[in-house]
Amino acid sequence: MSNPIIKVSDIAFPRFQGPDLDVMEAYLTNFGMIRSARTDDALYMRGTDADHHVHVTHLGEVAFIGLTFNATRADLETLSQATGTPIESCTEPGGGLIVRLTDPDGNRIEVIADAERLTPLEIRSHAAYNNGQSRPRAVELQRIAAGPSQVKRFGHGVIKTTSLARLADWYSNTLGLLGSDDMYVEDPEQPIGRFMRCDRGDIPTDHHSLLILETGETRLGHCAWEVADFDDLMAGREPLLATGARHYWGVGRHILGGQIFDYWKDPLGFTLEHWTDTDLLVASTPLNKHSIFAGINQWGPNPPADLDF
Ligand SMILES: [Fe+2]
Repeated sequence: MSNPIIKVSDIAFPRFQGPDLDVMEAYLTNFGMIRSARTDDALYMRGTDADHHVHVTHLGEVAFIGLTFNATRADLETLSQATGTPIESCTEPGGGLIVRLTDPDGNRIEVIADAERLTPLEIRSHAAYNNGQSRPRAVELQRIAAGPSQVKRFGHGVIKTTSLARLADWYSNTLGLLGSDDMYVEDPEQPIGRFMRCDRGDIPTDHHSLLILETGETRLGHCAWEVADFDDLMAGREPLLATGARHYWGVGRHILGGQIFDYWKDPLGFTLEHWTDTDLLVASTPLNKHSIFAGINQWGPNPPADLDF
């Protein structure tokens, strides 16, 4: 879409609902997040980047509520005028201004501006990698600290729908998302999945902030957070396994998006992903089309049979 209402700059965080905030805080801490704020009825977890939070759990019955995107205050004014939706002051921790929309599938889609920025947290570093072409590390020993992964930021959400065309058009027209890769069964002009990224012009941007899959149902696929690096992703598996977290799929490297991935199930039953080393595209990168039979991984195990991701 060449003339969307606005162009969001990034995806910010997902909102979930669950019955026990203590259980969620314990799990998410082990997943690599840090408590940013907690109220009587909501939990806000941050990563190491400056975002006030990258995951929200509201107290209530188990549910996925929706996704929030970042934009400027001027974008919010444009969006408010175009959609007839008010700009509200966000009364939650982190504050900011917010426009609350509903996508054609009923997902709550928020666009937020001027939210509080926190001091980034220091990431545990490690020595440089040696490989077959380059051996920059000599004498210095490689030692990886044990402990949960270090979640940096929210990376992408995946939503399942009964109509890719309708939903993808809405995200393109409303939020300015661009298509990165389509997936099709037989006809490239009849895609059943679209990876979508933010339009940031020449600024390299994650291959996808949103993946829409036409599966005949309307629900969340998964949500994914970027971690510090490959060692961090691998080391972070141990605390999750030690506390009985259900591992779902990984470790592998996807083809579309290119990221190294590892999928887990959270206490609510949702699929959460750790990833690192994504492909970055710019706005001028054209949409590509891929047969779903071309495979999903460059390496790593096949997905579980229930394809619940
Ligand atoms: Fe993912």
